[in-house]
Amino acid sequence: MIVKPDGVERGLTGEILSRIERKGLRIVAGDLRTIGREVASRHYEEHQGKAFYEDLLAFITRSPAWVLVVEGPGDETYAVVRRLMGSTNPREAAPGTIRGDLAIELTENLVHGSDSPEAAAREIGIFFPGLT
Ligand code: RTP
Ligand code: MG
Repeated sequence: MIVKPDGVERGLTGEILSRIERKGLRIVAGDLRTIGREVASRHYEEHQGKAFYEDLLAFITRSPAWVLVVEGPGDETYAVVRRLMGSTNPREAAPGTIRGDLAIELTENLVHGSDSPEAAAREIGIFFPGLT
């Protein structure tokens, strides 16, 4: 998962990671870094060509983000993290979720979570080459 630049800028890293840890998940790797354009375009390659793509790249590269690997029991940890995050649009995200409680704008939705085990493996390879 990623605590996106808006989350770091707003000082919400502790709040967000606290929710992950309190749920019973474990942070097994983490790094605060400014994501470069080349890495960002690989990460978001599924969105290339969409109307919001350039804004998305500008956003994710604008200031440091926490890139993280989260582990949990069982093999559906990605889905548990996505449920804790809430819907993509914070206006629709349920109260009790990270986006539902802490964000309001679609373009500033605080967190990223891999959306499948395959995506998690791909993204870990992008951000932590050599970890797996
Ligand atoms: P993410 O990849 O960041 O975890 O978010 P997600 O799976 O919930 O949403 P996704 O469909 O993958 O979209 C990636 C990010 O692009 C921004 N977005 N902007 N302006 C728009 O219409 C629009 N749609 C999506 C959001 O910041 C979203 O998290
Ligand atoms: Mg996504």
